[in-house]
Amino acid sequence: MADTTGTATMRVTMTVNGEEVSGEIEPRLLLVHFVRDHLGLTGTHWGCDTSQCGTCVVWLDDKPVKSCTVLTAMAGGHRVRTVEDLEQDGVLDPVQEGFMQEHGLQCGFCTPAMMMTSRWLLDHNPDPSEDDIRDAISGQMCRCTGYENIVRAVRWAATHPVGADAAGTDATDTPEVREASAGATA
Ligand code: FES
Ligand code: FES
Repeated sequence: MADTTGTATMRVTMTVNGEEVSGEIEPRLLLVHFVRDHLGLTGTHWGCDTSQCGTCVVWLDDKPVKSCTVLTAMAGGHRVRTVEDLEQDGVLDPVQEGFMQEHGLQCGFCTPAMMMTSRWLLDHNPDPSEDDIRDAISGQMCRCTGYENIVRAVRWAATHPVGADAAGTDATDTPEVREASAGATA
């Protein structure tokens, strides 16, 4: 198939945050652009496009990947999870709470991807050491925090189980994290 400019396109279908989505795309389209521009999920950020910064991390079939290194076509038939899926039924994921409680973000540009990697880490290692956390996020850059508070944020989340409103706050009381989750710095 071709679009109005004569460029070849293809149909792709995948599951994103639990819902089936499809689109007509150029075969060269990167997953980060499909997620952001076709689906409007701008919580996934686009930083370098060269696999350096890690701001574009999403889950592909339950594994964190840099979505600027994945062709949208490669994600066809697979499951993608973005930062917008962390909050469930108005309740923040403990990782999101942890970033708020421990001031794990400043500009917020790296934050959605940091949280996606952190959630994956905690799902596989519920009690990670500082070294474990630093190793997990080693492919991702933060220009603001010096990483110290990010490590603290993940440790905070490790001590607060998924689904518990341990901080006594709800989603509407967390502007920093909600802005980051919604891609306010996109
Ligand atoms: S935009 Fe993907 S690693 Fe920087
Ligand atoms: S909070 Fe600004 S880049 Fe990490």
